[in-house]
Amino acid sequence: MKLCMIGTGYVGLVSGVCFSDVGNTVYCVDKDQKKIDSLNKGIVPIFEPGLEEILKKNHKQKRLIFTNDLKKAVTNSDIIFICVGTPTKKNSNSADLKNIYSVAKELKKIIKKYKILVTKSTVPVSTGDQIEKILFSLKKKKLVDIVSNPEFLREGEAIRDFFYPDRVIIGTDSKKANRILNSLYLPIIKKTSRYFNTSRRGAELIKYASNAFLATKISFINEISNLCEKTGVDVKDISLGMGSDQRIGERFLRPGPAYGGSCFPKDTRALIDTGNKFKTNLSIVKTVVNSNNKRKSLLTKRVEKILGNNLVGKKITFLGVTFKPNTDDMREASSIPMIQYLNKKKCKIKYYDPSGKKSEFKSLKNVTYCKNISLACIKADLVILHTEWNDFKLLNFKKLIKKNKFKIYDLRNLYSPQKMKRQKIQYFSVGR
Ligand SMILES: NC(=O)c1ccc[n+]([C@@H]2O[C@H](COP(=O)([O-])OP(=O)(O)OC[C@H]3O[C@@H](n4cnc5c(N)ncnc54)[C@H](O)[C@@H]3O)[C@@H](O)[C@H]2O)c1
Repeated sequence: MKLCMIGTGYVGLVSGVCFSDVGNTVYCVDKDQKKIDSLNKGIVPIFEPGLEEILKKNHKQKRLIFTNDLKKAVTNSDIIFICVGTPTKKNSNSADLKNIYSVAKELKKIIKKYKILVTKSTVPVSTGDQIEKILFSLKKKKLVDIVSNPEFLREGEAIRDFFYPDRVIIGTDSKKANRILNSLYLPIIKKTSRYFNTSRRGAELIKYASNAFLATKISFINEISNLCEKTGVDVKDISLGMGSDQRIGERFLRPGPAYGGSCFPKDTRALIDTGNKFKTNLSIVKTVVNSNNKRKSLLTKRVEKILGNNLVGKKITFLGVTFKPNTDDMREASSIPMIQYLNKKKCKIKYYDPSGKKSEFKSLKNVTYCKNISLACIKADLVILHTEWNDFKLLNFKKLIKKNKFKIYDLRNLYSPQKMKRQKIQYFSVGR
């Protein structure tokens, strides 16, 4: 089939590349000319394991085309996927849908032949209805079906998630669109996943409900870990004990910093906003958002305590700053407010992240990016293990830090407290 992905970010690029790998011709369109230029040179603008190899292979075979010519890409395609960003609006909880609506308006001018228009971006329930209003004349002439197909891939595991999804959700009441999308997904869904055809509004809401539920699980175990710290219980036992119950499940039950990333924070906020619009009090989600915000300051306060409430001039090293490993995405990473706060308190901060230097800290004096773990750790008073990259799992801190007294704050519980004690290292972790 011939496909067009509008928006070549994490979702549009990964899905476009993977769809081309199973034999489709895919046009990847982006309004960012620099992105298109570098993709055409084989340079992948995001850090996603395994992506570059599949991208180069399919680009070479001309099944994958990077362009900013929306008209040509749409005209040549049977199915159009909208994959543009839907960030939070400034000073509000609601999702900013201006990218979505501007694409819909562009498409209205271009579409002359039947196309399936699929929203892959995460959009609040009833957004499909608004798109349909914009494209009303095309819908009336049966030139378009507007479908919701929310994306569930996780950054860092996106290729695997694309080829082995737990489920594919297709929100449409058009039998024709459902039949075509079913055959598009056939090479993927025949493996282990489920294919659901739901209402369009249902598909839109499934995405938000899923993310809000996962965010709830994380916030729940984070709060339980606070209680563990006060009661001398190891949170790992709680996660294992709870997670062994199949009704609960063990995933997303490991405590750590506040959740971040490009999805959970904005999607929980947008869901609350949708609840308000439809006069429904989503009190659990509101509490989760609140709890997560509080966690950011709770952990920085803990850093302050670990350093004897005297931060001025303290040398603090962050190992990992991204919101999770195997991605370069810094959107709403909890390291940002932590580093900003510690910087304000006159700490000297060094950081190392395998995905490279971060523009988020460019303007902060006394926040330095180091090219490797050794340079980052040497002479640190405190090393904060923020992101669980594999690179940080087997470190010899005494050799790295090269001084007698230092402290480790392990936000991911990567090390054994007993082993640290035996090595006489002052070690702090989460919920134990
Ligand atoms: N990142 C994830 O892990 C993930 C997972 C599931 C769902 N989502 C959802 O998918 C959507 C996209 O997320 P993302 O992380 O890929 O975003 P992103 O910011 O990485 O990419 C969006 C791309 O869209 C482009 N764009 C914006 N307006 C455009 C227009 N009018 N025409 C052409 N291109 C345009 C931007 O230049 C950018 O390259 C969001 O709604 C997000 O919530 C993201």
